[in-house]
Amino acid sequence: MNTSANPFSLYDDRAYREWRARKLAEPPQPPVVEIADPANPSATDLATLARHCEHHNFALFRFCEPPADPQPALRQLGLHFGLNDLDANLCAEDSGLTEITVKDTGTDNRYIPYTDRPIGWHTDGYYNPMHQQIHGMLLYCHRPAMEGGVNGLLDHEIAYIRLRDQNPEWIRALMAPDAFTIPPNIEGGMEIRPATVGPVFTVSPDGRHLHMRYSARSRNVEWKDDTATREAAAALLELFASDDPFILERRLAAGEGVISNNILHRRSGFTDSPDPARKRVYFRARYHDRVRYIHDTQ
Ligand SMILES: [Fe+2]
Repeated sequence: MNTSANPFSLYDDRAYREWRARKLAEPPQPPVVEIADPANPSATDLATLARHCEHHNFALFRFCEPPADPQPALRQLGLHFGLNDLDANLCAEDSGLTEITVKDTGTDNRYIPYTDRPIGWHTDGYYNPMHQQIHGMLLYCHRPAMEGGVNGLLDHEIAYIRLRDQNPEWIRALMAPDAFTIPPNIEGGMEIRPATVGPVFTVSPDGRHLHMRYSARSRNVEWKDDTATREAAAALLELFASDDPFILERRLAAGEGVISNNILHRRSGFTDSPDPARKRVYFRARYHDRVRYIHDTQ
């Protein structure tokens, strides 16, 4: 195969067809990788997780014996995949991971992740400046909700395929540098975060990987006002509402997690246990790096 072939170029349909065929030949979702010792995953487990990330942009894992404090094991797991450059986050713990649980008081309760409300389809950090985009993400269920709290997962490269197959002009529109704008965050007359203007899809400099910047929110996001962009945004919503076999709906059990190249994801609403000690607790880490297997850490 021509090494300069770029499957994400609209001018290289042959490379796209070959890449697409390989991608769709995979089973829609990777199986869960069981990790016997969270503090010391085996080389085989790590290689399997890496392969799943290569094919699906995500991998599912399960700590067979979930640790009381999973944060050191999660941080270490990320390091095995070159996930080191954590995105600064006001809500992060010392480990750099963010505990996601319902918070009744304080500054966090304005943000939907810290409530029991549903979160629509998005990629993480879509509001970040373009030079600080999130390419890797780790999500871990320490304790599930009493009821609900189902995660939806969809490899963003599958979303790319579904749109390009319908109309390549939609891809062109979503790659435009002004396709998708997040207005500035202004509180009390102060600009806390400037506006972020950028594409939805970007291709890595080597042409091998796709990055997606997206939120299905209709408030606080501005799509470029032209026909192709509007149609593309609507087509994404149609895809999410479809029964596409590549959309995974999964309620993670305690000890289960996802390592990903910041794929599309969502969360349904949930009901917590009345016992505060049994509230839903997730841990999340966001990285500027994408997943790559570091062989020599073994
Ligand atoms: Fe998220």
